[in-house]
Amino acid sequence: MPALMSDCSDNSSNAPAYVQHRRLRLWVAEVAVLAKPDRILWCDGSATEYDGLCAELVQSGALLKLNEKLRPNSFLARSDPSDVARMEDRTFICSAKRDDAGPTNNWIAPAQMRTTLARLFDGCMRGRTMYVVPFSMGPIGSPIAQIGVEITDSAYVVVSMRIMTRMGRPVVEQLGADGEFVPCVHSVGAPLVDAAGNRFEDVPWPCNKEEKWIVHFPETREIWSFGSGYGGNALLGKKCLALRIASVMARDEGWLAEHMLILGLEAPDGQKSYISAAFPSACGKTNLAMLIPPAPLKGWKVTTIGEDIAWIKPGKDGRFHAINPEAGFFGVAPGTSVQTNLNAMNMLHANTIFTNVALTPEGDVWWEGMTDTAPASLIDWQGKAWTPEAGKKSGGLAAHPNSRFTVPAAQCPSIDPAWEDPAGVPISAFLFGGRRGGTVPLVVEAPSWEDGVYMAATLGSETTAAITGKVGVVRRDPMAMLAFCGYNMGDYFAHWLKMGTSVENPPRLFRVNWFRRDASGKFIWPGYGENMRVLKWVVECCQGKAGAIETPLGLMPRWEDLAWNGLEQFSREQFGEITRVDAPAWRAELASHDELFEKLGDHLPAALEQRRAKLHAQLEA
Ligand code: GTP
Ligand code: SPV
Ligand code: MN
Repeated sequence: MPALMSDCSDNSSNAPAYVQHRRLRLWVAEVAVLAKPDRILWCDGSATEYDGLCAELVQSGALLKLNEKLRPNSFLARSDPSDVARMEDRTFICSAKRDDAGPTNNWIAPAQMRTTLARLFDGCMRGRTMYVVPFSMGPIGSPIAQIGVEITDSAYVVVSMRIMTRMGRPVVEQLGADGEFVPCVHSVGAPLVDAAGNRFEDVPWPCNKEEKWIVHFPETREIWSFGSGYGGNALLGKKCLALRIASVMARDEGWLAEHMLILGLEAPDGQKSYISAAFPSACGKTNLAMLIPPAPLKGWKVTTIGEDIAWIKPGKDGRFHAINPEAGFFGVAPGTSVQTNLNAMNMLHANTIFTNVALTPEGDVWWEGMTDTAPASLIDWQGKAWTPEAGKKSGGLAAHPNSRFTVPAAQCPSIDPAWEDPAGVPISAFLFGGRRGGTVPLVVEAPSWEDGVYMAATLGSETTAAITGKVGVVRRDPMAMLAFCGYNMGDYFAHWLKMGTSVENPPRLFRVNWFRRDASGKFIWPGYGENMRVLKWVVECCQGKAGAIETPLGLMPRWEDLAWNGLEQFSREQFGEITRVDAPAWRAELASHDELFEKLGDHLPAALEQRRAKLHAQLEA
């Protein structure tokens, strides 16, 4: 990794004796020389340390302790209103060549970016503590795990990283004297002392209102993040390492790093299969991963391996095996209820950090959709008094639409016994889904791997509050990886095509859509637990037992091919509506596929160009 400064010694890193890694000590010392914190603290990951940091955060007003009886060991954080979601327009892939970042990523030449970073980080931690957070994505010591070390000046980030990753001293011990790690530097960009020595009051959620930068150097495998303290912008193991940097590793080493949930499905006969599903942000991964099958579908059981990220590798048995590199869930709160996701509600009973949800008079949390009627009075996500009447009048929500919970995965009632198995679980099917009010049918199976890659590459979805910017705009989000692929999207498609031939039994590929709406704007499909009916059909397809008809898009179930027991009120007409393939709408859809493909130029694999032509022809016929 390129040196920032060379005139510092490794003992200025304040590393404890157990840190044997000289390069790590040197790097920490170098970052400290640049960022100029008041002190350096190496995090050991212990419960004592976690409790101490939470207590400090409560003391400073950054965290609010929730009612110990109602929500033990849990906290509420309220962010700055300018720092509430991922910022894709501030995310950069700084590969040596622009072409390697491709047309879907923001690119700045590495040398220029390093000049900017040197300016941004110079003195950016003045008056603050610089925490050193060693973390492992994947079980510590497992051959599939990747180690990162995040330097951060946010204690909120430290406690969140302890939930989301395996963190602390055991990771440093695993690194030994010369293990590989991904260096990740994060600052909220709000020093408490300026260059002249003037000291400022801290605020509950420090961030930089003028500048935010989330920067990746794929060749040197480095991450630098400045100005934001929220989610994927700041918890650098997640989107930055486990997707953007890992996707580059995966390309180079022959595996897949994907924005996917992983779930286990046990059939009534006891047979277990696993499927993985890619949906864009806030489009239902957490919900599907924890699905509780409706009672009339007796004997089916769903278990959870992961709900956001999957690392998938070819196994010796000729199948893909997937692991969840994370140790916690950072899930969307609004819409989570005992009806939509009972497992999540039970999972959140304790030891949870909530961010930007509303506070009840009893000192518990609430968000839109948790109950049918809102409590009579609340404190909203910005700390202001809120009532349902006032909310209705002003349109103001009690919880931010991208408010989230941070919770240990082990607390999930449906967690799969194999969720930490370093060998991963064998994947039978990949699902790709987006939020589409029209056009896209409930479920389609691709006739072949190549057709499926085309289907995934042209995935479209309406934007959500998980990213800053306009909500509800349909955009192409290939494999739900638009914001997370660390290299050229055309090369990523080629990698996917190649991976299909790397194992004897690749998974079957499906497109799903839970979000079709009727003329009044209401969702037609009941979704949530009822999605089990689609999963059952998917499993039967994998076993060659499902009934289906061929359509220009692929294989689709007829009414009689799905199980309807317990959902008889869902009519054949409604089923017809959510499976309808409307030719004019599809012509417009294909035109928008073309738009993405044109951008990719000669990086677009010929096989996908051929599928495009084939689809055009089939829909004309
Ligand atoms: P990230 O964590 O942002 O990557 O998102 P995610 O894919 O895990 O999103 P999540 O499962 O938290 O989805 C959140 C939103 O999708 C909420 O508004 C849910 O109510 C909605 N949702 C999830 N499943 C369904 C469904 O089957 N039908 C409908 N209509 N909405 C759903
Ligand atoms: C997403 O936006 O896809 C998330 C939340 O899962 S964040 O960690 O902020 O990226
Ligand atoms: Mn996500």
